Amino acid sequence: KKAFIRDKFDRPLKDLRISVIDKCNFRCTYCMPAEIFGEGYRFLNEDQLLSFDEIIRVATKFAKLGTEKIRLTGGEPLLRQNLDQLVKQLLQIEGIEDIALTTNGVFLPKRAKRLKDAGLKRVNISLDAIDDDVFKHINGRGVTAAPVLKGIQAAITAGLEVKVNMVVKKGLNESQILPMARHFKDKGVILRFIEFMDVGNHNGWNMDAVITKKDIVDQIDTELPLVPVEQNYFGEVASRYQYKDGVGEIGVISSVTDSFCGSCTRVRLSADGKIFTCLFAGSGHDLRVLLRDGITDEQLEEKLISIWSNRKDRYSDERAEGKVTKREKIEMSYIGG
Ligand code: GTP
Ligand code: 5AD
Ligand code: SF4
Ligand code: SF4
Repeated sequence: KKAFIRDKFDRPLKDLRISVIDKCNFRCTYCMPAEIFGEGYRFLNEDQLLSFDEIIRVATKFAKLGTEKIRLTGGEPLLRQNLDQLVKQLLQIEGIEDIALTTNGVFLPKRAKRLKDAGLKRVNISLDAIDDDVFKHINGRGVTAAPVLKGIQAAITAGLEVKVNMVVKKGLNESQILPMARHFKDKGVILRFIEFMDVGNHNGWNMDAVITKKDIVDQIDTELPLVPVEQNYFGEVASRYQYKDGVGEIGVISSVTDSFCGSCTRVRLSADGKIFTCLFAGSGHDLRVLLRDGITDEQLEEKLISIWSNRKDRYSDERAEGKVTKREKIEMSYIGG
């Protein structure tokens, strides 16, 4: 039986984003800049990561409290072995209706089929440029667009629903907005443009580097006319647009110029078992120590209810209101977006 719980602003808990690993094979300049995440950077070790059993235990409790949708993230989630087994087990949880994955796509040619067979429905694949020189620079590892495009194709072939995520940052890849739109228009995937956000502590964010939703939509609309369409579900982060000629759809995720905290139903579980109630949180609630100290099911449930009921996060709204002050935040690569 499901008991929906609500936070301080009456927002229900509907989505659980689970980061399964903090490592990544890319070093995107805006997420894991190579200067910071270099040889000496200490990622989590094996025993700090929640086991699949621990993840399942927490997810089962969340499902009981109303969670319907799960998204697996990283770092790069496909760096975690046997992820398809986790997908399979998560799908067996009563109340979980949707399970998706956010990935850079490079490992999909090898993994897409198994993930689909395990019950995965959809993948969101990050690709910030179609031009090799631009993309090589962004991912910090000199990788061309081809391996990611192959990953996208592998996902489609396996029968997964695919969205492509492109973070747009001024001076980095705004030249790629139209080439990306043209490329994906008739490929059966939804391309989503993401406003560059001030996540983490190292990405050098400032408002001048943000290409706004309006800039993006105007630019595409001039060449390929667009029409806004209704959201698919309450709390969807992307604003949707379809091409007027009837072929293709894009989305724009505008956490900076048109924030959406009012409908934020998301909770995040880090790879080392901390609960974060906002992408911009400063600290989390450590569940791993409790799980390993033998917390009972009732205690775990009480803990999760207490965390969500006390939630007041609305960081992006506060930023828009000019109310945020500089403080330490969690890293994007650690919490998975
Ligand atoms: P769908 O279920 O396909 O709509 O997935 P999604 O867009 O929620 O997830 P995805 O991992 O593809 O994230 C796309 C972008 O939206 C990333 O840049 C995320 O960081 C951002 N995003 C997702 N949820 C939130 C949120 O709660 N707050 C903010 N500020 N950004 C978010
Ligand atoms: N701003 C916006 N989106 C970001 N992502 C990573 N860092 C940022 C940022 N600073 C995106 C990734 C991926 C998704 C999970 O979050 O590119 O598509
Ligand atoms: Fe890039 Fe995603 Fe890896 Fe961050 S987690 S470095 S955005 S591929
Ligand atoms: Fe939710 Fe925090 Fe993002 Fe607002 S900034 S939408 S509260 S995760």
